[in-house]
Amino acid sequence: KQLADIDHGKIQIQRSENLKSLIPAKDLVFGRTFTDHMLEIEWNADQGWSDPIIKPYGKISLEPSAMVFHYSFECFEGLKAYKDKDGNIRLFRPDMNMKRFKKSAARLTLPDFNGEELLECLKKLIRLDERWIPAERGYSLYIRPSLIGTQESLGVGVTTRALLFIICSPVGPYYKTGFDAVRLLATTDKVRAWPGGTGDAKIGGNYAPCVLTQIEAAKRGYHQNLWLFGTDDEITEVGTMNCFVLLKNEQNEIELVTPPLNGTILAGVTRDSILSLARSWNEFKVSERKITMPEVVKAQEEGRLLEMFGAGTACIVSPIKEIHYHGRDLSIPLDPKNPSSNTGPVTKRFADVIVGIQYGEIPHKWSVII
Ligand code: COI
Repeated sequence: KQLADIDHGKIQIQRSENLKSLIPAKDLVFGRTFTDHMLEIEWNADQGWSDPIIKPYGKISLEPSAMVFHYSFECFEGLKAYKDKDGNIRLFRPDMNMKRFKKSAARLTLPDFNGEELLECLKKLIRLDERWIPAERGYSLYIRPSLIGTQESLGVGVTTRALLFIICSPVGPYYKTGFDAVRLLATTDKVRAWPGGTGDAKIGGNYAPCVLTQIEAAKRGYHQNLWLFGTDDEITEVGTMNCFVLLKNEQNEIELVTPPLNGTILAGVTRDSILSLARSWNEFKVSERKITMPEVVKAQEEGRLLEMFGAGTACIVSPIKEIHYHGRDLSIPLDPKNPSSNTGPVTKRFADVIVGIQYGEIPHKWSVII
């Protein structure tokens, strides 16, 4: 039997009659304010996807037996809409988010959908809530698509019902400290992901366990934790971000290294963008390869460590200035030419170019006007 797929042409729009007041950009706390509308699309195993509905942002009513509450049938995405100086709305590589969303859904046996159709629905929602996109540099509208299993069942099996929804939140810098370099605590007693696990899927179940390690880091005076894996302390991710190391390797070549997509690493859109930009610059070696803490410590001790940073949609890049590892604080260079700088020059260049593309100041196919 042919099940219905998402069809943006069938979208129904119920406009909110009580539009909320906008919050001044400077008062925004990441992910705490929501726009006037949301998108909902229901799915069931008999008919497939129902007509998409845009409706006032509001509560979802589910029975306590819904599978999402018990077995974490939930995957999500994160992308941003930007206002450029001409007033256009821009998205950054949204096709990549749609592809990853489908992949995460498949990992949890949640239903598949046409990503291009969903993207058209998303655009309609963003256009409707356009007034919520802050125009200030560094601010944007964070878009959160989510897909949950809603069947009322305690049996562990494939859900016969699901709900896809999208909510939006105007945001500024992810950290209160803004674009300041962070200090990390290397976590040595817990792992984020493992071979054959779900570390490469954007599922809620990967994120709740990150809070305890973050709190452990905060209690000891660090901003975030660094996730390691294996007996040789492979670097994997930093907090909820991908991790990059710029160093002079043992062959005396400048090399940008990030861990490979071996199943334990989330395929970040920012990660991919940084690799692609770096390869197009062709100024240093670019490697997706295993890198361990001992390699970083040795490079630091020999004066070959140049910069380290985290990369993700929320932060874009987050410079790293220190890592606590095995009882000592390892200091990570920022900008040797400018001791007061809070970022390394290459880290800053990635941030500037990506932000420039996102706000349409640097023309690039990644930035899509909607
Ligand atoms: C990121 O964009 O870096 C994230 O991991 C998003 C976070 C809010 C879950």
